[in-house]
Amino acid sequence: FVRGFSTSKAMSSTISQVTVIGGGLMGSGIAQVAAQAGNSVVICEVNDKALQNAQTRIQTSLERVAKKMYKDKPEDGKKFISDTMGRMKLSTAVNDAVKSADLVIEAIVEKMEVKHKLFKEIDAVAPGHTIFASNTSSLSIKEIASVTKRKDKFGGLHFFNPVPVMKLLEVIKTDETSEDTYKKLLEWGKAVGKTTITCKDTPGFVVNRLLVPYMAEAARLYERGDASARDIDTAMKLGAGYPMGPLELLDYVGLDTTKFILDGW
Ligand code: 3HC
Repeated sequence: FVRGFSTSKAMSSTISQVTVIGGGLMGSGIAQVAAQAGNSVVICEVNDKALQNAQTRIQTSLERVAKKMYKDKPEDGKKFISDTMGRMKLSTAVNDAVKSADLVIEAIVEKMEVKHKLFKEIDAVAPGHTIFASNTSSLSIKEIASVTKRKDKFGGLHFFNPVPVMKLLEVIKTDETSEDTYKKLLEWGKAVGKTTITCKDTPGFVVNRLLVPYMAEAARLYERGDASARDIDTAMKLGAGYPMGPLELLDYVGLDTTKFILDGW
C-alpha cells in the first residue's frame, strides 16, 4: 500500500499520519497515544518553548507507561520510549504540519473564535481526504466545523485526562458528519487502545455534562461553608468510590479549563 496511489475507499480509510494541534495537557496525551499505536505524529504549537514542554511531558509519561509494560525488561522499555518518541515530530508551522495528515486533532483553547481561525486556515491547505476532529470539552462540533468546506469530514474526539491512562474516548457525530468519517474515527479510537462511546453534538457530551456540574456544585458547597475542602474530597472518595475528590479533580482538570466550559454553557 503506497500512500497517495490509491483512490479506493477501503485503502483511504487507513489513518496513519496524525497531526495534533495544541501540545498542552490533552494534546500531548493524544499525540502520545497515537504514537504509541504506531501513527506518525506531528505536534503543533505556537512556539518552541510550548513544544519543549509537550515533549518533556510525553517523555515523563512514557517512562511511567514503560515501567509498567516492561517491568522485567528495562531494555525493551527504553526501546519502546525511543521508538515512540521517534514517531513524533514537532512543528510551529501549522499549515505545513497538516499537509500530509490523514487526521488532524485540535486541542487548543476553548474559544470558538480561536478555533474558527485555526480551522479556516488549515481547511485551505490540508488534503481533501484529511479528517478534522476537535477535542473540545464543551463547544458545539457543528459550530466549530461551520467555517470549513469539509463538514462531512469533521467530528469530535473527546479524550480524558490523563489521556494515556483513561480508557474512554467519546466520538461525536454531528448531523453533517458522514458515516464514513464516523466509522474511521471509531476505528482509529479502537486502534489507539480506547473504548469508544458515541454521543450527539450536545453540550458537554456525556462525561462533562455530568462531571462539570458535579465539580461546580462541590465548589459551591465549599463556598457556602457547608464542609471543608478536605472533607468534601474525602466524602466522595470514600462515600462514592471516586479515585479523586471533586476539588482535587477540579485542580487536575484545570480551574481555567473548567471556567471556560462553564462560561461557554
Ligand atoms: N501518564 C502515564 N501513566 C500515568 C499518568 C500519566 N500522565 N498518570 C498516572 N499514570 C499511571 C501511574 O504511573 C500508575 O501506574 P501503576 O499502576 O503502574 O503504578 C497509575 O497510572 C495510577 O497512578 P497513581 O498511582 O499515580 O495514582 P492514582 O492511582 O491515584 O491514579 C489517576 C491517578 C489515574 C489520575 C486517578 O486518580 C484518576 O482516575 N483520577 C480521575 C481522573 C479523571 O476523572 N479524569 C477525567 C477528567 S475530565 C476530563 O479530562 C475531560 C476534560 O474535557 C475536562
